[in-house]
Amino acid sequence: MGLKHLLTVNDLKKEDVDAIMKMASSIHQGNYESLKSTKILATLFFESSTRTKLSFQSAMYKLGGQIIDLPSNSSKIKGESDADTIQTISKYADILVLRHPKNDIMEYLAKYSDVPVINAGDGSNQHPTQALIDVYTIKQYNSKKEELTIMFTGDLYYSRTIRSLLELLKLDEFNLDFKLHLISTNKYYPIDKIINISDTKFTCIDKDQIDQYIENVDVLYMTRLQEERYIGREIDSRKFIMTKELLNKMKADAIIMHPLPRNEELPEEIDSNYRAKYFQQVKNGLFIRMALIKNIID
Ligand code: CP
Repeated sequence: MGLKHLLTVNDLKKEDVDAIMKMASSIHQGNYESLKSTKILATLFFESSTRTKLSFQSAMYKLGGQIIDLPSNSSKIKGESDADTIQTISKYADILVLRHPKNDIMEYLAKYSDVPVINAGDGSNQHPTQALIDVYTIKQYNSKKEELTIMFTGDLYYSRTIRSLLELLKLDEFNLDFKLHLISTNKYYPIDKIINISDTKFTCIDKDQIDQYIENVDVLYMTRLQEERYIGREIDSRKFIMTKELLNKMKADAIIMHPLPRNEELPEEIDSNYRAKYFQQVKNGLFIRMALIKNIID
C-alpha cells in the first residue's frame, strides 16, 4: 500500500516515483505477480479517452482484477451529480479512475470517495499518470546523457500532459541524472515560471525557428492543438507540422514523443522512423498503470 490518491503530480514523493518506476520496469520485463486478492477498478470518464481508460482497464485485467465502467446511460442522465455518482461507485469498487473536463475538480470529487482516486485528466490542469509514463519513456532512451534538451511544440496553453510533465521534472529531488534545457514554441504558457531548477535553462522560440534549434534536441515532445478548449480564445493558425526534412536534421539518438491523440501536426509518414517513440509511450502506459494499481491497492 503506497499512495492514498493520485490527484496531482504533487501527491508524489520521491520514494513513490522510485517505487513506481522500478515496478514498471520489472513489469516491462515480464516480472510481476497478480494482485494478492481480487479487487475491482471503476472507470468514470466524463470526457473522451482511448488510451488512458483502456490501458487502466487492461492493466487491471492483467493483474487478475475486475473492471466496472460508468455507462453512457447512467443515472447522470436523470441529473445525478458527479459527487453522488462518485459516492455511489466508491461503494462498489476498490479504486476509481476519474477523468473530468473541469480543471481543479479532483480534490473536491475525491472527498466523496471511500476508496483511492486516480486523476486520469482534469481539463487542461493535470494528467499525472501520463507524466509518469513520459518520464519513464524519457529515461528509457536517455539513460546515458548528462544534459538533455527537450523541445515542446503544439498546445502549451491547454496541454495538461506538458504541465504535469514539467511539474514532475521540476521536483528535482527526483534526481533526474541530467541537466535540462527546455525549448518551447509558445509565448503564452508560463513555462519559465513552472520550471525553476537552478540547473535548468529555458529558451522560448518562434515556430519559424524550430528548424534552427531541432538539431540540438534530444526529446521532441509534440502535442495537438486542443481546439475543443479554445472557446472564446484566438487560435494561432500557424501550426507546427513535423516533416521528413526536419526529421533528417535531428540527432541520430533523438526521440519524438506525443501523448496522442494526434492530428495533422504529426503525419503518419513519420511513424516508420526509429526516432518515433509515441507508440512505445502507449505501451509504457500499461506498465506504469499496472505499477500504480499495485502501489495503491495491493
Ligand atoms: N494520452 C491520453 O490521455 O490519451 P487519451 O485521451 O486517449 O486517454
